[in-house]
Amino acid sequence: MRKRSSIFSIFSVAVLTVCGAVAQDTQNRVFEISTRNTSLVYTAREDGRLVQRYYGPRIADPSRFEAMRSPDKADSRREMTWEAYPTYGLGFTNEPALSVIHHDGSLITEMALTDHRIQSDQNIVRHTFTLCDRVYDLTVELHAEAYQNEDVIALWTVIRNNEPGAVSLNNFYSSMLDLRAESYYLTHFNGTWAGEMNRTEERLGYGVKSVESRKGVRTTQTENPSFILSLGAPARENHGHCIGGALAWSGNYKLSFEVNEWDHLSVMTGMNPFMSQYKLSPGESLQTPASIYTYSTTGQGQVSRNLHDWARQYALHDGYSPRPVLLNSWEGAYFDFDENTITTMIDDAARLGVELFVLDDGWFGNKYPRNDATQGLGDWQVNRRKLPRGLEYLIDHATRRGVKFGLWIEPEMVNPRSELAECHPDWIVQSPGREKITMRNQLLLDLSNPAVQDFIWHTVDSLLTAHPRIAYIKWDANRHVEQVGSPYLAADMQTRFWIEYTRGLYGIYEKIRAKYPDLIFQACASGGGRVDYGSLRYHDEFWTSDNNDALRRIYMQYSTNLIYPANATASHISAIPGHQTGSITPLKFRFDVAMSGRLGLELQPEDIPAAEQEFAKQAIASYKEHIRDLVASGDLYAAKDKSKAVLFAYCTDFNNRGVWPTIKLHGLDPNKKYRIREINRLRPGKAFWGDGMVFQGDYLINMGVELRIARQYDSAVFLLEESDND
Ligand code: DGJ
Repeated sequence: MRKRSSIFSIFSVAVLTVCGAVAQDTQNRVFEISTRNTSLVYTAREDGRLVQRYYGPRIADPSRFEAMRSPDKADSRREMTWEAYPTYGLGFTNEPALSVIHHDGSLITEMALTDHRIQSDQNIVRHTFTLCDRVYDLTVELHAEAYQNEDVIALWTVIRNNEPGAVSLNNFYSSMLDLRAESYYLTHFNGTWAGEMNRTEERLGYGVKSVESRKGVRTTQTENPSFILSLGAPARENHGHCIGGALAWSGNYKLSFEVNEWDHLSVMTGMNPFMSQYKLSPGESLQTPASIYTYSTTGQGQVSRNLHDWARQYALHDGYSPRPVLLNSWEGAYFDFDENTITTMIDDAARLGVELFVLDDGWFGNKYPRNDATQGLGDWQVNRRKLPRGLEYLIDHATRRGVKFGLWIEPEMVNPRSELAECHPDWIVQSPGREKITMRNQLLLDLSNPAVQDFIWHTVDSLLTAHPRIAYIKWDANRHVEQVGSPYLAADMQTRFWIEYTRGLYGIYEKIRAKYPDLIFQACASGGGRVDYGSLRYHDEFWTSDNNDALRRIYMQYSTNLIYPANATASHISAIPGHQTGSITPLKFRFDVAMSGRLGLELQPEDIPAAEQEFAKQAIASYKEHIRDLVASGDLYAAKDKSKAVLFAYCTDFNNRGVWPTIKLHGLDPNKKYRIREINRLRPGKAFWGDGMVFQGDYLINMGVELRIARQYDSAVFLLEESDND
């Protein structure tokens, strides 16, 4: 961390506990929340309002912001719309971050700064601003964590009710950013089942654009709580000012982008207030999830690198560790297997060099055997017909072959045809008097209920205690919330359901992590329905999509990796024709695509044609030897010290005869020399004429490599290694 001795960044005032008074020593002060290359600047006005003045490249001396206020009355009101945490009350009525019905029915809230504290912990500088309503005893702690080396700032709040009666929160966003640019281009990620994370970029016009989920569960299937904002021009990889943002929350979320009459953009992110009025009893508080931001002056590429570095250190479990290559049983066997099917798959996997086998859906249920998706969900006992010698027999078998064992569960859900649903009908999310509507034949358990949380925790804990060699859990969730209603929550607490559900889920994750720190834990929700920084801090990886088609995966993984690390991006080779798209792609293409994330297989290994078995084995070995470390700890995809890099090149369509794409290799060191070598080769002839030769970094960066890949599904993988010899 760079040390600076600025009075503007090291500043703390005495606690002022009385609400309604403006702390004298906070008036006209400048507060700089800085990272190595960025500054977020707030000032406190004379009237105590904390106003955001700036977010952008680091400003060496932010003292001038102190004078940045206008005596003009209209201007002064305008400033209220860019308060650090705007409340509904005075000023122009843009979307407020906080709107409250006070205990006596008053609708107005006006916050003044009463305290600021700062605390440093090596790489993280933590600021806490205490804001207090001028009339009522309602406080907001605005927290800002500045991650110095990663240029990431996390913002969130704690809203506390000290009024004599209950207050209702209508809006309770985590943060507000006020931006000023000629134009704003928003990249966000829309999707559907088997088509998650489509990158959409649009110019923001006047008014509000919102990206949100009201699904409660599986919230990232159709949109993702993350974005890139490019200022002044559409986003480019290596040029321009871009802000990356993400909300660390797995429940309903809302990202609001409002271009107002002064051409400012106000960005607000947080839990979705939709049907979520939150009543705070006296003394009670609500903590909002972290809004993550990073600022880059060199395009969206740096946004991704900052977020990946931050995540791998702070928001992804075991972020920098290489992940094992696995075989998942789903597309190879679906529900249709017995002991022999599984042991054969394990044997074949071991032969190919696979390190972990994951038994997916279908292994449980006896009264209602889980032989398809219609029944058995919730009954987490091994199916005795399919697996008469139980899981231990399979685990022993795998262990003997040097393969670890993993298991699928979907503990938040239940089939109506299950012993669990029969025993605990009151554990199911439902609305009184209404027919329960199933989705994929299943209903949702009420995770706001502590008894349900205990059941789920004990389900997982019993499995892992009975089978301590289970190394990996895939946690799936295949429906969203409909007909919301909790038999557990009181009538006046029903609107809390959305938040309580997610808290219940996180509580279980916490317990799992505390007791099983080494477990490899995958977040899945019908594919990429739970890809967010709220859940990732407990997980090692996520299931990107049920769509394993390599062509589609190129785009999905590219968009996903704009925000989330490649190391966490599970990417599997499946059979052809692809089960979702029906397309037929070469095995090499499938491997070359899957290798850019956490490599896995999802097929019957024996379905790989005999002539290609050796290639598959070699490809897995190459991934382990050359690529996996770069995926785990590299900068998409050069090693941090730039001594090694990998280039993945894919031809997505016929490229016309004789048109050879030239690819410039950003990310290398111009002063280093690199030997470039194609790996995963299948066909004769060189994809690059310089294959095997040594090049100066500046040549590869500026001239690039001309690749002879032109037909659809041609692909090539090159390794670049620092070399002293020509
Ligand atoms: C949905 C997941 O995304 C799939 O990978 C698979 O685990 C099925 N559920 C099993 O039901």
